[in-house]
Amino acid sequence: MKSTTSTTNGKSTRNSKNTEGPEGVEGSTPGFTRRALLGTAGAGLVVGAGAGAAAAVVLDRPDRSPSGGSADAAAAGAARGLGPARLPFHGERQSGILDPQQARVQLAAFDLAGGVGRDGLRTLLQRWSRTAARMAVGEPADEFENQIALDAGPCSLTVTFGFGAGLFDKAGLADRRPAGLEPLPAFPADALDPARGDGDLFVQIGADDALVAVHALRVLQRQAAGTAALRWQASGFARTPGATPNPMTGRNLMGQVDGTNNPKPSEDGFAAKVFCAAGGEQPAWLAGGSFLVFRRIRMLLDNWEALPVDRQERVIGRRKSDGAPLGAPDGAGESAPVDLGAQGADGALAIPSDAHIRVAAPAANGGAAMLRRGFSYHDGLLPDGSPDAGLLFLAFQADPRKGFTPVQRKLSRGDGLSRFLRHEASGVYAVPPGAPQGGYVGQTLLD
Ligand code: HEM
Repeated sequence: MKSTTSTTNGKSTRNSKNTEGPEGVEGSTPGFTRRALLGTAGAGLVVGAGAGAAAAVVLDRPDRSPSGGSADAAAAGAARGLGPARLPFHGERQSGILDPQQARVQLAAFDLAGGVGRDGLRTLLQRWSRTAARMAVGEPADEFENQIALDAGPCSLTVTFGFGAGLFDKAGLADRRPAGLEPLPAFPADALDPARGDGDLFVQIGADDALVAVHALRVLQRQAAGTAALRWQASGFARTPGATPNPMTGRNLMGQVDGTNNPKPSEDGFAAKVFCAAGGEQPAWLAGGSFLVFRRIRMLLDNWEALPVDRQERVIGRRKSDGAPLGAPDGAGESAPVDLGAQGADGALAIPSDAHIRVAAPAANGGAAMLRRGFSYHDGLLPDGSPDAGLLFLAFQADPRKGFTPVQRKLSRGDGLSRFLRHEASGVYAVPPGAPQGGYVGQTLLD
């Protein structure tokens, strides 16, 4: 069984045969792969589109388009396409990093129970990997199946595992803790709730169906019972594939097209920005893996929505309508190059000095870059009546000390957007490389 990750023309795909199955499920459900479609202006990137970005995808399904039939038939076709679409669990990289964002995400972190140690951790990761591989091809879980997703296809399910700093001491692996896992510094205006961040084991579950994602979370949580206890959990969403007439980068809850200027797999140096290299600063077991920075960032939406659109645009430095950088000609679209020197008719900078894209740009941060793959959340109202809503910021990178930290240090001081944000939780995790067929995620660390 072959499962690879490849990058072609800016398009990253994890290829697998349709008959791929987890161990023991070889040749199980014939399925459909979900394929990134480039051509979105600018995104050039479907994989890893940023905050709230829609998964700009097409499916290898002829029945996804109306084909002259009724709207009902078209809807039925689209639904059939989303259900069977699947992404391989096994591969060089873990799934859920380079894959298009799904419509739903469940994030969770667990703390290892006392006395579990290295062997107990290995057993849990073997169990989780086996089950995640089954669910990724639409098979029921092998243990603790709960019927939540009965009848639903895998819906592009991905399960991505990460390791927090605390795991290494608890599992007797302190000498293998990567240097990149050092705690993030405190940033000005941080208001972090430790109970909603950090954790020894991190899981990101993405799927185009909420029930499929929750099914996976419940199964993995029950399998961990006695070994690792749930520490925090968060639910997020992005645009559902097919919701826009043309694939495009998605929007966040501020209404901005978000994810445009992510590093693209077709660019030189992409892998070096996002993945850890063999023989680099990080331990050998993490080669081919990555680091993930998580921030739960609440948006002060009542304040934001009170701003006129032209002022909102100046806060980011891009137009809301099409995501084009300020100063670009009408119709330029989100892929138009950013000209930080462009001036308006009044001679002032088109992209203001405190605009988010100016302050966050790699050029302003010694080349610091990361692959943003965040999801929106909306969890009801706070006691003061304001929305408890914002961005589950997720950024994959080769080393947070050279990616997230310098950029956030700068943003926390000079970014016009920060007036409308509250960072309320945080976590940083080492994301091991993917598991080969027959292997499990974390094997390079534990065996
Ligand atoms: C709720 C919080 C945030 C919102 C709403 C937000 C929104 C946006 C938007 C709309 C863009 C322009 C489109 C794009 O290129 O993706 C952008 C760009 C970017 N953001 Fe954020 N962002 C947030 C937080 C952060 C954080 C915490 C970081 C990193 C510490 C960050 C780093 C970046 C970077 C590197 C870019 C690309 C800049 C460029 O090169 O053009 N953002 N963000």
